[in-house]
Amino acid sequence: MLTVWLIVVIVHPYFQFPEAFIEIIKELCLKESGQKTEKEFIRAISPEVAKLSDLFNHRTPESAIASTLTSPHYPLAYLAYFLPSNFFKIACLLLDLFKIKELQPSGSRGDGDDEKRPLKVLDLGAGPGTSALGLLDFCSRFPLPFFEGREIDYLAVDQDHRQLYYSTLLFNQYYRHLEPSLAAKKISFNYQISLKKVQMKPVEGGAKFDFILAGNLFNEIKRAGHSTESLAGWAKGLIDQLTPDGFLLIIEPALRKTSRDLLSFRNLTASQKIASVIAPCLHQGPCPIMEPGGSEKDWCHQEREWIPPEWVNRMDEAIGNRKETLKYSFLILSPPTRLPVHPSIRWRAVSQPIVSKGKMEFFLCNEQGRRRFYRVNREKSEANACFSEISRGDLVEIEPSDGSNGTRIGPSWQIKTC
Ligand SMILES: C[S@@+](CC[C@H](N)C(=O)[O-])C[C@H]1O[C@@H](n2cnc3c(N)ncnc32)[C@H](O)[C@@H]1O
Repeated sequence: MLTVWLIVVIVHPYFQFPEAFIEIIKELCLKESGQKTEKEFIRAISPEVAKLSDLFNHRTPESAIASTLTSPHYPLAYLAYFLPSNFFKIACLLLDLFKIKELQPSGSRGDGDDEKRPLKVLDLGAGPGTSALGLLDFCSRFPLPFFEGREIDYLAVDQDHRQLYYSTLLFNQYYRHLEPSLAAKKISFNYQISLKKVQMKPVEGGAKFDFILAGNLFNEIKRAGHSTESLAGWAKGLIDQLTPDGFLLIIEPALRKTSRDLLSFRNLTASQKIASVIAPCLHQGPCPIMEPGGSEKDWCHQEREWIPPEWVNRMDEAIGNRKETLKYSFLILSPPTRLPVHPSIRWRAVSQPIVSKGKMEFFLCNEQGRRRFYRVNREKSEANACFSEISRGDLVEIEPSDGSNGTRIGPSWQIKTC
């Protein structure tokens, strides 16, 4: 009998790009470019977007980098296309973090005076405010109690004054739009910018942050000639700038090279106990795909469904790109004093479903390694039905009914996604 698997993907309504925000981006793009219509703007900016896309995808020779990054078109092309494409990624990381109940960032909430203390966020290489705008949107539209009743002091740092200028305009305008829903949740933001080049050295004293964000910055710093060792040394300084409950959230492109660089960095910071690895890994040991006998062709990355705005689709059409899913790699670190303990039945899905005749498989990873679990179609049951609902990046709990350590999912195995 031929079994056809229909994989139905349901997009969470939150991940439909907010129309009001795309209107704000459009208005700024038209004003800054002097173009009269959306169509003219897209026609004019698309070649610049294509150049940047080649650069970020490492298809451009290193020699062209400076000229592209210093081009007067860079900030506008980034704002028009890469900002909306990266907008939801900070929400994806926060959702991951809040899913792990052992790790709920207390943010020093609920304990007397600290409850009133503003949350402090430092965004390094903030660009046009991608993560700030994503966080603002998340706080307003996602029903998650953690940020409710909080004042958020947000400091965006970048070396590029135009990006920071755009970030302030966009932030203020979107904040005004979201103000009623933020006020209903008693959330307020204090958004500050700082124009400076982030130096790869520890910062003496200074404020402690609940969250330090680095969105698509590490690969730029690496490309500027810094080694994994110097990145790890720098990360030590960043970890020292966190509160004991704080987190360093790193987002990187989902490319093989940049993702494997991130894994090398992760292995070094974990082995030197510079930081604890909070996500995506459920362990502190070396990443199995980077180990001898691991897989040269693999890299750890995430994919999440979203509904992109038509505006991005049109630029994609013009440059021959597709952004059906949000792809990224990420790493969440905390001070080394915080060591998460995960139940051994918990795994991270690190592949798409591998569907072949008569069975379905997934690579799942935890401290036991990266293992290929499979379920033969005729052994599908109510208890293990959830196996076919797993998506890359999901946290999955697998309880073998027989206490076995095997990878063949039996009909009485209990599977659930967290
Ligand atoms: C690819 S953009 C990422 C922007 C934003 N974080 C995002 O994820 O969309 C990288 C940003 O990092 C900034 N940047 C790179 N190296 C930097 C440094 N050493 N100090 C400050 N900013 C830096 C660039 O100016 C640029 O705005």
